[in-house]
Amino acid sequence: MILLFSFYRIVLAPLTRSRSYNNVPQPHAVLYYSQRATKGGLLITEAACVSDTAQGYPHMPGIWTKEQVEAWKPIVDAVHKKGGIFFCQIWHVGRVSTYDFQPNGQAPISSTDKGVTPGLDGVDWSPPRRLSKEEIPSIVNDFRLAARNAIEAGFDGVEIHAANGYLIEQFLKDQVNDRTDEYGGSLENRSRFALEIVEAVTNEIGSNRVGIRLSPYTDILDSVDSNPDALGLYLANELNNFDIVYLHVIEPRLDVNEEVHQGAEDQIPHSLLPMRKAFNNTFIAAGGYNRSKGNRAIAENYADMVAFGRLFLANPDLPKRFELDVPLNKYDRSTFYTSDPVVGYTDYPFLEQA
Ligand SMILES: Cc1cc2nc3c(=O)[nH]c(=O)nc-3n(C[C@H](O)[C@H](O)[C@H](O)COP(=O)(O)O)c2cc1C
Repeated sequence: MILLFSFYRIVLAPLTRSRSYNNVPQPHAVLYYSQRATKGGLLITEAACVSDTAQGYPHMPGIWTKEQVEAWKPIVDAVHKKGGIFFCQIWHVGRVSTYDFQPNGQAPISSTDKGVTPGLDGVDWSPPRRLSKEEIPSIVNDFRLAARNAIEAGFDGVEIHAANGYLIEQFLKDQVNDRTDEYGGSLENRSRFALEIVEAVTNEIGSNRVGIRLSPYTDILDSVDSNPDALGLYLANELNNFDIVYLHVIEPRLDVNEEVHQGAEDQIPHSLLPMRKAFNNTFIAAGGYNRSKGNRAIAENYADMVAFGRLFLANPDLPKRFELDVPLNKYDRSTFYTSDPVVGYTDYPFLEQA
């Protein structure tokens, strides 16, 4: 088992940056990730698509072709040269897509044929097509192959993206999943797809190379569950059967459109505690953390590690700045998802340059 938190407890959260033209990771990502790498620090990549049906946004990286695997290699090498630990987040967007992103303009796939509310986030999401039971093993297999490819590219492991309203969560949450077969209805049935993926991926690459990200409490992209406490706890317990290396969970306070990083005083919402206590291996908390909230989460044994998204995006030397307790660069929301290879990507200043 990798002792993930033996060096640093600060994690780079997965951050989509939309700079992988034609789904191929680009040379500018070498600089971006190596800027954020430290000896013993865990970095998680932006979400990488497991197949050609997995995409729903422009310029997402993929991990399903030989060309993509080759393109990841120098990025992984650069992070390893600095002593970093690097996990690749593997995902499928499911219904969070449009005909334009799908092969032959087909309908996006999901657990359901109910679409995301048209116009949500300014996009006219195309109505999805409900996967038949017979089709599900091939999607599970896409995750397995993506994990194999990630190892081939040199990654230390993969994080299965089962959060934020994407395909796996479309099965998990009862306000989206309206199936009547063994993949819908009870908690056990709704979790079946996620756990089949965990099983396939751990069988393929080994449990000590697998983590998973969940967000039972968030309601992004119409993805809501009527009993997130029960869902989160059930999954934390079931995941113990696979002995995966970490469970990474997003706080309910996440709202990526709000400023949430100010101040030290707000109480950590202890809603993740039952999941943390139930899960046997490393627990990572994310969502709205700053230095003082992160320190408190560790001091109170609320989490083993804390993942930082927007603050790490804007501060390539975030661990150093936290150590010295010095001011941070502010993030520029307008360049989160623009495709420029430098601006808003690799040009955030280091402390010495600020
Ligand atoms: C620009 C941007 C891109 C993101 N991309 C992903 C992603 O690819 N995968 C994922 O699981 N979460 C993604 N998230 C969510 C973040 O990982 C994180 O959970 C969120 O930003 C809250 O943490 P923070 O308050 O530290 O930023 C993204 C968030 C932002 C702001």
